[in-house]
Amino acid sequence: MPWCKIGTKSDLSDGEVMGVEVEGVPLAVYNVDGEFFATHNICTHAFALLSDGYVEDGKIECPLHQGIFDIRTGKAESGPVEDDVRTFTVRIEGDDLLVEI
Ligand code: FES
Repeated sequence: MPWCKIGTKSDLSDGEVMGVEVEGVPLAVYNVDGEFFATHNICTHAFALLSDGYVEDGKIECPLHQGIFDIRTGKAESGPVEDDVRTFTVRIEGDDLLVEI
């Protein structure tokens, strides 16, 4: 599995999320208290981009029906979501953020 650059640490402030596409895979990349995480960007409930949602306390709230996922584990926690969202390991090299796709 190749490691692909998805941005730099300076692209994301604490509490922010951004959407990127790598190797055809849409990802949401998060900065939670200075740690970086990535999930698939499409909600498991219907079609909405998690990168358009709201980050709070290590959770992402989907913008469409307010389903909530744990950013670190991808676990579906509340709202209409039942299926977990896939997570991706983020590695930091210098200022670069990499994910394994
Ligand atoms: Fe995300 Fe419905 S599309 S909660």
